[in-house]
Amino acid sequence: MTRPIPITHRKGLSRKAGRHHSAKPARKILILGGSGFVGRRLFARLGPEGAVATYNRNPISGGIRFDAVSMRLPDVVPDPDSVGAGVILLGDTSADRCARDLERSHELNVVSVQAVIDVLRGWGKKILFTSSEYVFDGERGGYDELCPPGPILAYGRQKLEVERYLAERDPGALILRLARVVSARPGDKTLLSSWLPAIAKGGVIRCAGDQAFSPLFADDAVTGILRALDLDLRGIFHLAGPRPYRRIELLEMLLAQMRKHGPVSVEIEPCGVNDFPLKERHPIDVSLDPAKFIKATRCRFRGMPWVCRELVKAARAQAWSPS
Ligand SMILES: NC(=O)c1ccc[n+]([C@@H]2O[C@H](COP(=O)([O-])OP(=O)(O)OC[C@H]3O[C@@H](n4cnc5c(N)ncnc54)[C@H](OP(=O)(O)O)[C@@H]3O)[C@@H](O)[C@H]2O)c1
Repeated sequence: MTRPIPITHRKGLSRKAGRHHSAKPARKILILGGSGFVGRRLFARLGPEGAVATYNRNPISGGIRFDAVSMRLPDVVPDPDSVGAGVILLGDTSADRCARDLERSHELNVVSVQAVIDVLRGWGKKILFTSSEYVFDGERGGYDELCPPGPILAYGRQKLEVERYLAERDPGALILRLARVVSARPGDKTLLSSWLPAIAKGGVIRCAGDQAFSPLFADDAVTGILRALDLDLRGIFHLAGPRPYRRIELLEMLLAQMRKHGPVSVEIEPCGVNDFPLKERHPIDVSLDPAKFIKATRCRFRGMPWVCRELVKAARAQAWSPS
């Protein structure tokens, strides 16, 4: 049995969203994959008083080493009673790497995650599993939660396999299908920030003009996860940015933002996503409709023009220059 979790974090949440906070002692969130891109931000938001976080290869301060393939969760979590919910972020999140070694990626992304789910269920914890836009085939885009999944990537099939495993066993579980998460920090190596070195170098940037998705600002992803837990949402929700973009539109937006501060000598060479040397054919339009999530949580997420502005501001503050 899962029940609403009184969680210790208050930062970034409204009083209304925090209504489960009661006389009961607050319990921590167990972040599985706390050293990853989303996990680090989630851990930073909650702090050690609000969360316990695991890492595998990249140690984090105050974190617990956990290799989901070779270790058992009960052997590393010292006090399961202090945990209210488990947020599963761990896995190999590179679609191409997953396709290149199907056996290894299935072992990590499916078998070990199922084992983690079994342990959390045995402990009676609320489970939040992060799935992906790649459970869809990308033929039409604008997918809502009623659209039938049909992954064409191994990574998407692995996510869907876990979704189904969890949904069959735990009706109280929450599955958040995340869209592409981006940050406004130079050096983060997410979609927008990873263009900065190429822009600084100048010349031609090849960019897919066909691929579309619904990018989500990283801090908003964290807020969404916490709000969803606070409200004890169950079932499947799409956690995505406010509107879809084609990849090339985002590059154009970033360049336009930079050109406000000086000349930028970059030319975009449009191509198709599948013109890149990828192991598998990639879906074209995996944009998600976040309406169900927005209605349930009343979250308001920031748009990509704002993220581009913030990224350029941060890059300029670091004395980064396009020329
Ligand atoms: N970021 C996105 O744009 C995006 C989009 C859609 C869905 N999602 C989903 O959101 C979740 C978080 O994504 P993310 O971008 O934060 O992922 P990430 O940066 O790739 O982080 C992956 C995490 O998994 C851990 N991990 C890897 N191998 C492990 C193992 N054998 N045992 C235990 N932990 C292991 C990593 O630990 P170490 O680094 O310490 O090895 C890291 O903490 C994932 O489920 C992903 O599928 C993300």
